[in-house]
Amino acid sequence: MATLSKSLTTMPADRQPVAGAVAALAAVAAELSALIRHAESTAQLGAVRGSANADGDDQKKLDVLADEMIASALADCVGVAAYLSEERDDAVTLHDGGDVIVASDPLDGSSNIDTNVSIGTIFSILPAAGGHLQAGRNQLASGIFVYGPQTTLLVTFGDGVHAFQLAEDGQFYDMGWQVQIPPKTSEFAINASNSRHWMAPVSRYIADCLAGDAGPRQRNFNMRWVGSLVADGWRIFRRGGIFLYPADARKGYEAGRLRLVYEASPMAMLVSQAGGRASDGQQDILDIVPTSLHQRVPLVFGSANEVDEFINYGS
Ligand code: AHG
Ligand code: MN
Ligand code: MN
Repeated sequence: MATLSKSLTTMPADRQPVAGAVAALAAVAAELSALIRHAESTAQLGAVRGSANADGDDQKKLDVLADEMIASALADCVGVAAYLSEERDDAVTLHDGGDVIVASDPLDGSSNIDTNVSIGTIFSILPAAGGHLQAGRNQLASGIFVYGPQTTLLVTFGDGVHAFQLAEDGQFYDMGWQVQIPPKTSEFAINASNSRHWMAPVSRYIADCLAGDAGPRQRNFNMRWVGSLVADGWRIFRRGGIFLYPADARKGYEAGRLRLVYEASPMAMLVSQAGGRASDGQQDILDIVPTSLHQRVPLVFGSANEVDEFINYGS
């Protein structure tokens, strides 16, 4: 079976800066997978360190460890000009003359580290020429690693989405899965504990889903919420669904919870390459030009027909 490293090493010369960065990230992911599975370390890895990141989140040990592992792996990639991270206030300059910038959420789903629930790593690869803040449309590649019962990778280079699974030999093997998000769904993902803070269109949309076949949607819906973007995302790539983290009335949530540069944009590239839709409720995520590295954005993505249906409720 084809492996990730084989497909990366055979990429043309002009794409080797991207290939090299993905290979480095995959090596870190394989190490993180082993570390997370290792009995002695899980409890400690989920412990807070007493520090906060730029977005004000308590940093868990594994957040910082994953970030440091990625930074040092990318430091060996001469094609990488800079590294942008959820866990660092500012960009890390790596190689002058490097062709690409790597942005990452080193450990996504930190609240799930010590609950034995799938967590992951998200990455976005951008042309260095575009600078640190550029629209997701410019991405050269993006991907998510999921550390769950299987350790897997969804990656796109702009030519569709490829799925790989980590084997005992440390190689990521092609899963032979033509990744396409079904356009229709009856499954939504939202943190319903925030419902009293939602704007009216979100409340109306969810109420109509909950009304099921007795309501205007005329079919019953199911709900899932993992609390790890990568895990909710993987499910949606597998069987469809709609994920919503909208803006809400809580202080600091005026633009929702998820960060544009290293969560929403990379996810949006994967979603659009798999025939899905990713929006902030008004425009395609990929068209939004960031004004700051850690800016948040309302995020709705998944089955195209259902995202369009949600957008029709207004925002
Ligand atoms: P991170 O752990 O990188 O901060 O990301 C957590 C994000 C995302 O993974 C998840 O969908 C969302 O936060 C969950 O938010 P709530 O805890 O508010 O449900
Ligand atoms: Mn995250
Ligand atoms: Mn994170």
